[in-house]
Amino acid sequence: MSLLELTKISKHFGGVRALHEVDLSVDAGEVVALIGDNGAGKSTLVKIVSGVESPDTGEIRVRGESARLVSPRAAAEAGIRTVFQDLSLCDNLDAVQNLFLGQEKYGPMWSGRRIRRHVMEEHAHRILESLSVKLRSLNTPVVALSGGQRQGIAICRALISDPAVVILDEPTAALGVSQRAEVLDLIHRLRDQGRGVVVISHDMKDVRQVADRVVALRLGSKVAEFRRGEYTPSDLVGAMTGAHEGDSSVPAGATEGDEL
Ligand SMILES: Nc1ncnc2c1ncn2[C@@H]1O[C@H](COP(=O)(O)OP(=O)(O)OP(=O)(O)O)[C@@H](O)[C@H]1O
Ligand SMILES: [Mg+2]
Repeated sequence: MSLLELTKISKHFGGVRALHEVDLSVDAGEVVALIGDNGAGKSTLVKIVSGVESPDTGEIRVRGESARLVSPRAAAEAGIRTVFQDLSLCDNLDAVQNLFLGQEKYGPMWSGRRIRRHVMEEHAHRILESLSVKLRSLNTPVVALSGGQRQGIAICRALISDPAVVILDEPTAALGVSQRAEVLDLIHRLRDQGRGVVVISHDMKDVRQVADRVVALRLGSKVAEFRRGEYTPSDLVGAMTGAHEGDSSVPAGATEGDEL
């Protein structure tokens, strides 16, 4: 049984068809990469499983049960957490404050419900360690950290509620080579923890390294699905651009008689 299963999801924005009958599933301990050109519908699909947008039609099942993800809270309660591309970290706050932003731990009523920093620090320590995110100090404002560390904190924040499914929107964009490797390691650890992971990426090298399965969207439709080891780099590019449709020797946009 899949942790998350979307069936025939469609979504329009006015006259724009953002998604058309898209299927997507993710199992426990599986990394699924979602690829597609600009405007393919990736973010729209992510917003739907995050409870930010609702689909026009289609079905969402979580662990086999029909689910209505009407708000980000409903998605979180269903065990689905998303790390959006902008990370939404507060630069002036430290790692612990960012990890627990909006989900702070308070002491009992009789103590005036003071924030329990030591409890949060201990929890933060455990979660950061579980993904091997290395920080020199938990008290440094996150503005001073590297891109890889910031991504690590954003992912750990998603893990505070121990979600079954983690969705990452372009987690390696704007990272240097070594930081990218760190984040890819982190994705493998999420998978090894038995979570289902959906990763949106434009980077085909990252996709090949990290994905057990690749789903390609084009112009709002799912156009291809590949299992690890069953595709070539040009299969991925072909699925995204549509170059493999029809006569594969003629690139998209070219007409017969063009000089190739
Ligand atoms: N809120 C909205 N209002 C109107 N149109 C929208 C809205 N959100 C998305 N769209 C349209 O839906 C289509 C899919 O957009 P989406 O953002 O999901 O693509 P994407 O695959 O995430 O692209 P990118 O790689 O550029 O992020 C596009 O044509 C886009 O213009
Ligand atoms: Mg997008």
